[in-house]
Amino acid sequence: MSDRPVNFNPGPAILPLSVLEKASKALVALDGVGLSVAEISHRSKEFEAINADAMARVKRLFQVPDTHDVLFLQGGASGQFAQIPLNFLGHEQVGAYVLSGAWSKKALEEAKRLGSAVSVASSEDKNFSELPSLDGVEVPSNAAYVHTTSNNTIFGTQWPTLPQFSGHRHVCDMSSDIFSRPVEASKFALIYAGAQKNAGPSGVTIVIIEKAWMASAPKTIPTIWRYQTHADNQSLYNTPPSFGIYLVGLTLAWIEEQGGLDAMAKLNEAKAKLLYDAIDGSDGFYRGSVTTKDHRSRMNVTFLLSSEDLDKKFAKESEAAGLIGLKGHRSVGGMRASIYNAMPMAGVERLVTFMEKFRKAS
Ligand SMILES: Cc1ncc(COP(=O)(O)O)c(C=O)c1O
Repeated sequence: MSDRPVNFNPGPAILPLSVLEKASKALVALDGVGLSVAEISHRSKEFEAINADAMARVKRLFQVPDTHDVLFLQGGASGQFAQIPLNFLGHEQVGAYVLSGAWSKKALEEAKRLGSAVSVASSEDKNFSELPSLDGVEVPSNAAYVHTTSNNTIFGTQWPTLPQFSGHRHVCDMSSDIFSRPVEASKFALIYAGAQKNAGPSGVTIVIIEKAWMASAPKTIPTIWRYQTHADNQSLYNTPPSFGIYLVGLTLAWIEEQGGLDAMAKLNEAKAKLLYDAIDGSDGFYRGSVTTKDHRSRMNVTFLLSSEDLDKKFAKESEAAGLIGLKGHRSVGGMRASIYNAMPMAGVERLVTFMEKFRKAS
């Protein structure tokens, strides 16, 4: 590893060093162009090629079928909380939401501003320390879609296998685990993610959407908020976040170079195991905050120490040791290690070594 600090931030988050090095050159002069990728026209053939290449990589990685389109939008995942009901929640319909964390709650609240939406399963009564049970879940027959969140960034839970809802369109917020494991896009009507954890920098929102559904949205919606507008224009209807899209392309190329999503999943599994084993083997000094082990996230590993004072000490000393961004979200407390795709095994090893030293010294 280089002597850079190890970045455990939840997002914006760690990017592969080779991607940053390549991008730093392109920020000054793109190969064969001589100008910065940030200062060329989004209508230029060079940028069109960058855009098309990044989209092609999304399609390859997620096996996106011809029935679906890939879009690069703006407004983050939070923008999708509104854009989805705006496009798809008809008067006679309801949005069905599975509540597994703070972000899915926000998605539901936003849908309620625009139409009728309900929670069909929730683990809020357990402060989202596990995933909600879907046993016997009843999705209303007039549901326009069922909305889930694949990985709960704040609470550190992740669906081990993504649920399915036969007979209903499935919309999934994959902001914090997109491209961390294989996914078949054909099973979803819409997948969305802010790029800033596993796929690039903030400012780009990745959307994979079923074409027929997209076409069914009312034409009365303002042009910029219609998915179809962006599909019709290869996501170049208005000025896109061009440097961000360039970085997404480089990040996805890096994933493909590592062996694709199977290889990513294997590495992510191994990194998470090392960390959870250190937590579980600490004689109770560290405690995982997720109550059901099978629901533990391979992206955001949340753990508690025995007091707030120890939490503060751990956060301070880990930062001084070059381990950055470990303080947990205020709604959970304790620590959260975000170990996205770009986190090398060596980074997790450094954390585990620090945890052991800290425990012995306390
Ligand atoms: C699962 C999930 N959904 C949505 C969001 C909100 O994303 P954005 O800041 O891109 O709107 C986040 C942000 O961390 C997230 O982790």
